[in-house]
Amino acid sequence: MKTIALIYSHNSGKSAKVAVKIQELLSKHYKVEEINIETCNFDVFQLYDQYILSVPTWFDGELPNYWDEILPSLRKLEFSGKNFAFFGLGDQKNYPENFCDALGILALFFESRGGKIIGKTSTEGYFFESSKALKNNLFYGLLLDQENQARLTEERLNNWVELLEKEIA
Ligand SMILES: Cc1cc2nc3c(=O)[nH]c(=O)nc-3n(C[C@H](O)[C@H](O)[C@H](O)COP(=O)(O)O)c2cc1C
Repeated sequence: MKTIALIYSHNSGKSAKVAVKIQELLSKHYKVEEINIETCNFDVFQLYDQYILSVPTWFDGELPNYWDEILPSLRKLEFSGKNFAFFGLGDQKNYPENFCDALGILALFFESRGGKIIGKTSTEGYFFESSKALKNNLFYGLLLDQENQARLTEERLNNWVELLEKEIA
């Protein structure tokens, strides 16, 4: 059974709830290790081959503090041979120009150091104006808007987990 590191902030309320659901869905076929980004160190980013990273957007298009704090220690690492999937919460109504920007910032960080991005998704059904999470008409991961589209979350999550299972296989 393959192991997936599921890394999120246990204090980021809405993201943590989504992470628990992802863990439940993936546990049927994988060993999922939940890791709190606020207490882990850079070693964690060398140990696994499969990562799912949670990154809500804060501060008008910025990373949350806990990602900002750990990234400098990861700058010299190389991630080739590793898969990275991202999910990010945001609010496209109040932040239409920075919708889930942090997901794009984080994905680019890992991609530019050799990591392979899996779990890219379509923009269909969203109504934002611009987003750093967007590249070549696809989102770099799963974008969820619990403020305005909470009722779409379950279906989006299920579809995304199915996609990950295919890409990890
Ligand atoms: C001060 C503040 C700034 C925010 N900035 C953004 C933003 O730039 N882009 C975005 O998509 N969402 C933004 N959001 C919305 C949050 O990402 C959203 O509420 C998310 O669900 C928070 O998830 P969490 O509870 O896991 O931290 C912001 C929210 C607040 C309160």
